[in-house]
Amino acid sequence: MSENQFEKHILCIGAGYVGGPTMAMIAAKCPQYKVTIVDINAEKIQAWQTDDLPIYEPELLDVVKKARGRNLFFSTEIDENIKKADIIFVSVNTPTKTFGEGAGKSADLQYWEKTARNILAASETDKIIVEKSTLPVRTASAMERIVNSNNKGIRFDVVSNPEFLAEGTAVADLEKPDRVLIGSQETAEGKKARQEIVDIYANWVPRERIITSNIWSSELSKLVANAFLAQRISSINSISALCETTEADINEVANAIGKDHRIGSNFLNASVGFGGSCFKKDILNLVYICESYGLTEVARYWENVVKINEYQEDRFVRNINKALFNTIANKRITLFGFAFKANTGDTRESPGIYITKKLIEEHAHVVINDPKALDNARKDLAGLEENLEFEIDPYKATHDAHAIALVTEWELYKTLDYEKIFSAMIKPAFIFDGRNILDHQKLYEIGFNVYPIGKAALTHF
Ligand SMILES: NC(=O)c1ccc[n+]([C@@H]2O[C@H](COP(=O)([O-])OP(=O)(O)OC[C@H]3O[C@@H](n4cnc5c(N)ncnc54)[C@H](O)[C@@H]3O)[C@@H](O)[C@H]2O)c1
Repeated sequence: MSENQFEKHILCIGAGYVGGPTMAMIAAKCPQYKVTIVDINAEKIQAWQTDDLPIYEPELLDVVKKARGRNLFFSTEIDENIKKADIIFVSVNTPTKTFGEGAGKSADLQYWEKTARNILAASETDKIIVEKSTLPVRTASAMERIVNSNNKGIRFDVVSNPEFLAEGTAVADLEKPDRVLIGSQETAEGKKARQEIVDIYANWVPRERIITSNIWSSELSKLVANAFLAQRISSINSISALCETTEADINEVANAIGKDHRIGSNFLNASVGFGGSCFKKDILNLVYICESYGLTEVARYWENVVKINEYQEDRFVRNINKALFNTIANKRITLFGFAFKANTGDTRESPGIYITKKLIEEHAHVVINDPKALDNARKDLAGLEENLEFEIDPYKATHDAHAIALVTEWELYKTLDYEKIFSAMIKPAFIFDGRNILDHQKLYEIGFNVYPIGKAALTHF
């Protein structure tokens, strides 16, 4: 198809975990649109054009291959592609600010603002700008102020379309989303721009799953969705601590409460804690917004979700130390998994980072095993190599180890030959199941001392 035969020219700025998969899905489902993804990171753009994509996500390569070169393109030419675009999705990173006012809590919007100014400088025609990144509520008004401060006679409409995909299931989430949320100003122009975005998704998403709202509700809903999800994890994790001291079993408790349809059974797995680039950052952002509006009690309420998560990670390490006779100095401890969840290579905010650093502080020798996250783990733990090993083979990783700490719920860990692993470990051998995915009774019968989350330990002494 030549340039002019495409119905719409869609551009996405930011080729990361969100920009890449979402645009690949739009391109695969809508051959009538030309979709281009740009990024300042040339290496990433290069990788998107190979079969070795820059992120690991099941089934993503198939989706990319369906559209790449047909109506899906990757480029580092940002200005040129801004000029040609009718609709620009902005999917740059919005990490937590590390400096100045709001440091440690508020969103760092420098990449976002830079993009707004790029768009303004390069545009020659009217455009719709779509906030795909997760942003503090009311960011759209700042965005509109920046882009509409032009004297070129160009009109920009800003629409919010937060992304709800979960890493590890991104392709399925994009193909059959629970909902797509599109918010805009309630003006005639705002609604017209919103409809344009609705029309894109309506190519494959049932209309009743496409929700529209005012722009502030849309921005806020994304933060609130992540806050509620993380809150559920912290709620069950807080109870896991109580289970461990009362001989109640967290799985039995979760099963009993999850049968109540008002509570529901999803997201009730006790674990070593949540990670990922979003939960902590988005809650802290929510906390900061509440504080800045003087809503101190609301801020404290949500802040505790993060505090319980830190408590859970810390408890996990303390339990290891205590079980290993209060000294782990020079002991070999193998981490099963380092990604923040299964089926991704992403390690951002993974509990594995904190656990490894804490173990090394206690002078343990830590071996990291993960099927997809070793490259990222090396970057996260740079400078600590002296006390670290990275080993892709779980059997080699556990050879002569005193303990295994399971951090990521990869299926692979359920199917290993634990008799073989046990026989090559130092005795007494310990296993700390930070995800409760292993067969604890069987491991105990093999000879392991087994420490699940939220259940009594199974020990041989
Ligand atoms: N990762 C998730 O699961 C997820 C889910 C929903 C929403 N989000 C939100 O989506 C946004 C993006 O997250 P991500 O995980 O894709 O981040 P990411 O870091 O993987 O990708 C962001 C990309 O933007 C690029 N970039 C930054 N500034 C740029 C600029 N000025 N011009 C061009 N490119 C630029 C970076 O090089 C990077 O490749 C964040 O706001 C995040 O909160 C993430």
